[in-house]
Amino acid sequence: MTTLKIHHIGYLVKKIEKAKKTFEDLGYQVEHDTVYDDIRKVDICFLIKDGYRVELVAPASEDSVVSGLLKKYKNTPYHICYETDDAEGAYRELTENGFAAIDTPTPAPALGGCNVVFLTSPVIGMVELKY
Ligand code: NI
Repeated sequence: MTTLKIHHIGYLVKKIEKAKKTFEDLGYQVEHDTVYDDIRKVDICFLIKDGYRVELVAPASEDSVVSGLLKKYKNTPYHICYETDDAEGAYRELTENGFAAIDTPTPAPALGGCNVVFLTSPVIGMVELKY
C-alpha cells in the first residue's frame, strides 16, 4: 500500500468564525486564517492542537459543495484527508479497495494550490487525497 499520511480532519460547520472561536477555546491555534475557496464556494480555515490539524469548512453560498451535507449532517467531522507523494498509486489502490471518486482532482486554494480529490467508501464514508 502506498504511504498515506494523515493531513487533517475536515469539519463541517455552519458558522466558521464562531466555530473557530470555539476550537480556540479548546486550545487549538489558528494555522491558516479563513480563506475563500471560489471553486467549491466555501470558507476554509485550519487549526492545530497537539499535532492534530482540523479544517473548518463552511458554505459561503447556497450552492456550495457542502450545503447539502450540512443540511443533512449539521456541524460534524466528515472527512479525513490523507497526503501522498504518489497520487496515481494511492488513487489506484483506493479505487481497487472499494473507494469511488466523487469528484475530479482539483486545486485547493486553502492548501497552497495542492490538488485534492474526494473519494467515498460504502463502509467508512468520505476521504480526501492531497498531493
Ligand atoms: Ni479537507
